[in-house]
Amino acid sequence: MHHPAAVLLLITCFFLSLLRAAAGGNTASASCLPHERDALLAFKHGVTSDPAGLLASWRRDEDCCRWRDVRCSNQTSRVHELRLGSSSSSTTTALVGQISPSLLALQHLEHLDLSYNELEGPTGRIPEFLGSLKNLKYLDLADIQFSGELPPQLGNLSKLQYLDLSSTYWGRTSWIWNITSLKYLDLSSNRLYGQIPHKLMLTSLQFLDLSSNGDVDKNMGVMATDLKNLCSLEILKIRSALLYGDITEMFKNLSSHCSPNQLKELDLGVNQLTGTLPKWIAQLTSLVTLDLRSNNITGPLPASIGRFTDLIFLDLSYNHLTGNVPHEIGVLTYLTTLYLNNNDLDGMITKEHFADARSLQDIDLSYNALNIDISSEWQPPYKLSVARFAACQMGPHFPGWLQWQVRLTDLDISSAGIADKLPQWISDAFSNVKYLDISNNQLIGGLPASLSSMSLYELYLSSNQLTGKIPALPPNISFFNLSNNSLSGPLPSGSGAMGPIALSLFSNKLSGQIPESFCKAYQGLAVLDLSNNFLEGEPPPCLGVMEDMEFIALSNNSLSGEFPSFLQNFTSVLFLDLTKNKFTGRLPAWIGNLRLLRILRLSHNKFVGDIPMNITSLACLQYMDLSNNEISGSLPSYLSNLTAMRKTNMTVTCYVDDIDNFHLISLSVVLKGQERNYGSISRVFDTNMTSIDLSSNNLTGEIPEEIIALNVLVNLNLSRNHFIGVVPNKIGEMQSLESLGLSWNKISGEIPATLSNLTFLSYLDLSYNNLTGIIPLGTQLDSLHAANPFMYMLTTKFDNISIGKED
Ligand SMILES: *[C@@H]1O[C@H](CO)[C@@H](O)[C@H](O)[C@H]1NC(C)=O
Ligand SMILES: *[C@@H]1O[C@H](CO)[C@@H](O)[C@H](O)[C@H]1NC(C)=O
Ligand SMILES: *[C@@H]1O[C@H](CO)[C@@H](O)[C@H](O)[C@H]1NC(C)=O
Ligand SMILES: *[C@@H]1O[C@H](CO)[C@@H](O)[C@H](O)[C@H]1NC(C)=O
Ligand SMILES: *[C@@H]1O[C@H](CO)[C@@H](O)[C@H](O)[C@H]1NC(C)=O
Ligand SMILES: *[C@@H]1O[C@H](CO)[C@@H](O)[C@H](O)[C@H]1NC(C)=O
Ligand SMILES: *[C@@H]1O[C@H](CO)[C@@H](O)[C@H](O)[C@H]1NC(C)=O
Ligand SMILES: *[C@@H]1O[C@H](CO)[C@@H](O)[C@H](O)[C@H]1NC(C)=O
Ligand SMILES: *[C@@H]1O[C@H](CO)[C@@H](O)[C@H](O)[C@H]1NC(C)=O
Ligand SMILES: *[C@@H]1O[C@H](CO)[C@@H](O)[C@H](O)[C@H]1NC(C)=O
Ligand SMILES: *[C@@H]1O[C@H](CO)[C@@H](O)[C@H](O)[C@H]1NC(C)=O
Ligand SMILES: *[C@@H]1O[C@H](CO)[C@@H](O)[C@H](O)[C@H]1NC(C)=O
Repeated sequence: MHHPAAVLLLITCFFLSLLRAAAGGNTASASCLPHERDALLAFKHGVTSDPAGLLASWRRDEDCCRWRDVRCSNQTSRVHELRLGSSSSSTTTALVGQISPSLLALQHLEHLDLSYNELEGPTGRIPEFLGSLKNLKYLDLADIQFSGELPPQLGNLSKLQYLDLSSTYWGRTSWIWNITSLKYLDLSSNRLYGQIPHKLMLTSLQFLDLSSNGDVDKNMGVMATDLKNLCSLEILKIRSALLYGDITEMFKNLSSHCSPNQLKELDLGVNQLTGTLPKWIAQLTSLVTLDLRSNNITGPLPASIGRFTDLIFLDLSYNHLTGNVPHEIGVLTYLTTLYLNNNDLDGMITKEHFADARSLQDIDLSYNALNIDISSEWQPPYKLSVARFAACQMGPHFPGWLQWQVRLTDLDISSAGIADKLPQWISDAFSNVKYLDISNNQLIGGLPASLSSMSLYELYLSSNQLTGKIPALPPNISFFNLSNNSLSGPLPSGSGAMGPIALSLFSNKLSGQIPESFCKAYQGLAVLDLSNNFLEGEPPPCLGVMEDMEFIALSNNSLSGEFPSFLQNFTSVLFLDLTKNKFTGRLPAWIGNLRLLRILRLSHNKFVGDIPMNITSLACLQYMDLSNNEISGSLPSYLSNLTAMRKTNMTVTCYVDDIDNFHLISLSVVLKGQERNYGSISRVFDTNMTSIDLSSNNLTGEIPEEIIALNVLVNLNLSRNHFIGVVPNKIGEMQSLESLGLSWNKISGEIPATLSNLTFLSYLDLSYNNLTGIIPLGTQLDSLHAANPFMYMLTTKFDNISIGKED
């Protein structure tokens, strides 16, 4: 008896098939009961906003069994289901209001879905009366923003099989672990913490998700507990929940008591679990997915992993696993993903590890002490798309077996001890590679001329010994880093369209001028580092076309001309380094318009004239080095406008890009008289690098008292100028100073006693002035002094009476 209206909807989800089959029976014959209709109308009354008109069909004069999202039993006409879950994507269509207690009248309700609505009501509490809907099998309140504690009444729902309370923001340690009928329990994205009770009676539970819990503010997480009674569990996810405790305690009983074991998916990644694998894992042979990434698991990876014949996904990265990688891993025929990176594994990886790994696609073994010994002739059974072997030993020859991996899109063999030429085949074999990192090896010889035929987005070949010219860039390249090689010749011609976002060629032997053609070919650049080369001439004004520029370093070349006018266009620039060139002329007043500038390095040029007053409007400037020029005039007042160097109520937000993307700029920062290599730009912004270095110029006048407002300044160097007057008396208020240089000036008077307030001061140079008086006493200065009796760099005598006299 096929009725065209009776479309049977079959949902074959493994745990819901029974529950949901009932959903099909919305037939014309059912006709709802008046008191149930009234209850639904009262519920509608509690909804204050229904922008999508979901309840528009809910009218008194219609049969409520035919209302939208209402399903009745076709035998008893009782309301069985309310399916009012709003789609997770569109917040604008959600119901707003409260859940009316009138629903209590629907005593036969089995399925209630109110998810993704704004029905938390004025109290924000999960309604207690839901615990009296005793026929409920399915309850979905996901993403309703409740608060407070979960009412214990819900524990009365003895038929409940499906419960989704994810993202409901209830936060107290209150668990509903007594509902033995539960098959599906989703409590993810709340703020649960504390221990899951020991005697968990959820013997029917197949799915449990407690991910994204824990209270980060209080640093309280979910505590691992013995899961021994959860023999039906197929999927367990407790990811990012500050889960702590010994993983052995969670599973040792589960894995021995429950036989055969049902567990297929185990995701406990990004937590704080300790313990080892071998004591519990051997029995969990049904696993398809095992993700324990980012925990504190120690000990070896057991050979029993070879019995996990269904395993597809294995991520044990970022732990402290030790020992060898068992070659049993090579029998896992279905394994597609193997992440063991960032552990303490050692030993050899040979072709046995991959003997039957026919499905392997993504592998990451980076940052272990592994030696990958696979012969060039061996053709692996797999076709990898992601291969990461950073800091594994693969050399000295370029790993030839990679040439058969023609589906590769990501390849990282950086720091792999490769001392060889780049093979000719790479542009063919790696023609699909988007991300290629071979940096930090000892590659010799030239780059393949056919580089421009590759589809690379990111290419990292820095810190090798490559020579010759740089060929044309691949057309789609975004990040291109060839720094720290011995490449010569002119700057590479562009790639097409906007060119890359980041170009890093520092520390090579590139020569010639920056040609005009460079401007258009690289107009999309946000990061440009050409430092430490042999570039000369005036940078072309057309560079101003690169309006997205954030980091530009041209230091240590022979570039000349006035302070480049194209910089006016770089209104997003955060970092500007022209150190060690032949630039001349005055600093322009418009420099004050580079509002986001944080680091300005102009030292070792031939700039003359005043420090423009407008430089003090750079509210984000935290590092200014103008040393070793011929700058004259006095220090501008309004220094206190450099708000990044003082503790203040910041009115300006100093924008920082997602600079983790730019591990490109190698930066030597002169601080405390020492050259420090900060490696990447992000580390400079992370540390409190506040500095003013004006040493070796022709500055005159007194040191303005206003300078003491810069109370987070770490380094102040005014040495080798013509300053007169006295040391500002309140210098002791510059509480963050670690380094102070005033030597080789004409400063006179007494050394202020407040100097001894500078508790972090570790470098002090007052020599070659006309200072008199007593060296101030103070713990820090005393110990400094004991450690380094030459810190005042006295030329004549040091007797605690007279210091720094000009000779
Ligand atoms: C509705 O009735 C038909 C036939 O009477 C039956 O096959 C079907 O299972 C019923 N549906 C429900 C939900 O009871
Ligand atoms: C429901 O739960 C509450 C609190 O746990 C309890 O006091 C009450 O007796 C229960 N009601 C029924 C009908 O079981
Ligand atoms: C759950 O069961 C335990 C014992 O099995 C009992 O002590 C506890 O009160 C129950 N919790 C609720 C909320 O019913
Ligand atoms: C990891 O475990 C080691 C040794 O048990 C311990 O010293 C370390 O503090 C742990 N680290 C974390 C982040 O828990
Ligand atoms: C500088 O920016 C202005 C305005 O965006 C633009 O018109 C001009 O072409 C740019 N200068 C250069 C040299 O590209
Ligand atoms: C310098 O700053 C002043 C005050 O903020 C401003 O009026 C002037 O336009 C600035 N000069 C330049 C060249 O931007
Ligand atoms: C310094 O800041 C003050 C107040 O914020 C402002 O009035 C003054 O113009 C600024 N001076 C300079 C040179 O930017
Ligand atoms: C900083 O802000 C706080 C509160 O907004 C205020 O009480 C204080 O006076 C402000 N300080 C300065 C120096 O403006
Ligand atoms: C940076 O400075 C802030 C406040 O000035 C301080 O709380 C923080 O500890 C400093 N960080 C470092 C790395 O010195
Ligand atoms: C800087 O000062 C030195 C020494 O006083 C002097 O020889 C030189 O001419 C000055 N240079 C400039 C550009 O003023
Ligand atoms: C700084 O030093 C002076 C003189 O030694 C002292 O009177 C004052 O209390 C000190 N201030 C602080 C904040 O320690
Ligand atoms: C040094 O200072 C004293 C006063 O403290 C002054 O008499 C003398 O002229 C100064 N000498 C020089 C070279 O400036």
